[in-house]
Amino acid sequence: MTQAMASKVWAAHLLTLFPEMFPGPLGHSLAGRGLKKQLWSLDCHNIRDFATDKHANVDAPPFGGGHGMVMRPDVIGRAIEHLQDSLPDSHDTAFVYPSPRGRLLDQKMARQLSQKDGMVIVCGRYEGLDQRAIEHYQLEEVSIGDYVLSGGEQAAMVILDAVVRLLPGVMGKEISHLEDSFETGLLEHHHYTQPRDWKGLEPPEILLSGHHQNIAKWRAENARDITASRRPDLMAAYMAKKHLDTEDKD
Ligand code: ADE
Repeated sequence: MTQAMASKVWAAHLLTLFPEMFPGPLGHSLAGRGLKKQLWSLDCHNIRDFATDKHANVDAPPFGGGHGMVMRPDVIGRAIEHLQDSLPDSHDTAFVYPSPRGRLLDQKMARQLSQKDGMVIVCGRYEGLDQRAIEHYQLEEVSIGDYVLSGGEQAAMVILDAVVRLLPGVMGKEISHLEDSFETGLLEHHHYTQPRDWKGLEPPEILLSGHHQNIAKWRAENARDITASRRPDLMAAYMAKKHLDTEDKD
């Protein structure tokens, strides 16, 4: 029995009008290797397959007028219910709707999603989903940033990439993501590699010293300096948490 069969495989289910966009970038590199090794699974369903009229319509003009089209709740509802029926009752699955109006994706959310059994992602197009479907199925709206994409598929890829790299076995060394930006609350330190002299530029001397303790100290300071200058908001949150942790210990 393979490792993937022995334990539950983290499962991504996508509802999309463009299933051919997947796995796309998720079929390469870390996520792609994980997919091939069955450390996670991806299945796509075409929302149009759940339309029932002869033109296979999935959208309609908004009530109240205005531009664009809105995705019909009856069509998306059939698609979601089809998935719900196919999921084991014991599975803890997140139902996510990528949307610029959603909660901003961060590392904490990615980690929480990776600890579930999987995710259903409903990809919107046009002006998005009828609000009744969002509320009826309690879809969690997740934004990947304060800008508007042309569809939920691109956002779904970003969300999935952030999540699947955290699944056990997907990264070479299981601990390697612990030093990533945001995992510590700070941005990551600078990195340097060969050649030692490039265009007359040398890496910081300390990194060539072989003194692991001093290197770790330099990296920690470097991470703090970078965070303070680039993301004062993160630095303030880091300092506040540190202060609380110290108080807890006292
Ligand atoms: N769909 C369109 N724009 C988006 C965004 N910024 N985040 C998530 N989904 C989206």
